[in-house]
Amino acid sequence: MKHADAASDIEYVEHDAPRDHAAVVRMLRHAFASDPEGIEAWMKIGGEGNFRTLVDSSRPAATLLRIPMGQYFGGRSVKMLGIAGVAVAPEDRGRGYAGRMMRACVRAAHGEGWPLVGLYASTHTLYRSVGFEHAGHRFQYTIPMSQIDAGAHNGERIEPLDHESAEVRECYAKFAARYDGPLDRGPYIWQRIKSPRGEEHHPFGVRDEHGALRGYVFVNQKRRPDGRADVSLSDFVFHTAAAGRRLWALLADYSMMSHDLEFFGGPTHPALLLLGQQRYDIVNKDTWLIRVSHVKAALEARGYAPCVRAQVHLEIADDLVPANTGRWTLTIESGKGCVEQGGRGEIRVGARGLAAIYSGLLTPAHAANVGLATGEHTALQAANSAFAGGAPWMSDHF
Ligand SMILES: CC(C)(COP(=O)(O)OP(=O)(O)OC[C@H]1O[C@@H](n2cnc3c(N)ncnc32)[C@H](O)[C@@H]1OP(=O)(O)O)[C@@H](O)C(=O)NCCC(=O)NCCS
Repeated sequence: MKHADAASDIEYVEHDAPRDHAAVVRMLRHAFASDPEGIEAWMKIGGEGNFRTLVDSSRPAATLLRIPMGQYFGGRSVKMLGIAGVAVAPEDRGRGYAGRMMRACVRAAHGEGWPLVGLYASTHTLYRSVGFEHAGHRFQYTIPMSQIDAGAHNGERIEPLDHESAEVRECYAKFAARYDGPLDRGPYIWQRIKSPRGEEHHPFGVRDEHGALRGYVFVNQKRRPDGRADVSLSDFVFHTAAAGRRLWALLADYSMMSHDLEFFGGPTHPALLLLGQQRYDIVNKDTWLIRVSHVKAALEARGYAPCVRAQVHLEIADDLVPANTGRWTLTIESGKGCVEQGGRGEIRVGARGLAAIYSGLLTPAHAANVGLATGEHTALQAANSAFAGGAPWMSDHF
């Protein structure tokens, strides 16, 4: 698929390996301070067919990787196109290539029916200029191993698991769907759970008395010069407090030879709530952004609280995707949203305001407070409960 730039000979095209590969490896090396072997390995995991190139007079000028996956909002998985590896060669920066590429990327995502596009950003201004907005967080927790006080070696059984097991995927999906923001992972993300930055993480699961998997962790240890290790988790998932406590006990059993435990999540993680004391440090590692690329598809795909029965009258201004622009009425009933054109247009948002409201990071009233929405106070307040959930978060990075 081609998206030609009206003003010039610049096109956003599918990656053509014979023409683009060497130039793309070079762009990525300079962009992410990596060696060629690391870039080649990463491109393989991403799949060369998932790269897109911005070409200027047939010369590769910018690149990105598309990662097909989903994201849970309101208990349902919404198709989300993840974007990573946005790069422009050093000599070409500041000439508008990345902006052009991202505009074409968003338009193409809309044309293909993707409800959402999501990414982590090194510069927010670039992505905000094409309608992305902050939508949730990813925090890093560090806990001295000696301070883990929640463990219980109760009757539940721990066992090593297989990385690829369908049981693990099902266990994760059940956990993730309870929160707003976690990814509905595809192979790219699962590969990063198994082996983030090439460091293998080992899965251990906890089973209940009937043998059902109730939780698991993926564990890695890294030795310090003193011989003791730091323990890191690429995933910490459980469905019941008993399973969570049993997993804490498993981790505490590493404490004799370890210093710190590290894992990722939101402003809080359910596992932290099982600890008796707050002896951990939390750092806001990343903010992730989403872009509502297809208004109707996005609003109808997410879930809503089943007890909410409401109509939200939106007026959306989207310069980049004219089909999103206009008045839309969202009718919420029995946990589902139905979207029709027209209505009273009581809450006025651009693509950025819509993104932050959609994820639940901001209520419509909070969005108005930072200039991302306008409307009568009563209309904004009335719509607050429509998108309400917990604070949106994810533990994964892409
Ligand atoms: C970020 C990057 C892709 C921008 O590419 P580019 O072609 O130079 O960007 P553009 O010229 O299209 O600029 C678009 C906007 O990006 C932002 N931007 C670009 N360079 C920036 C910089 N050095 N610092 C902060 N913001 C910057 C600006 O908002 C700019 O808009 P403006 O010129 O109207 O202010 C490029 O610098 C790069 O490859 N960096 C290293 C890798 C990286 O950070 N990738 C993004 C990962 S999410």
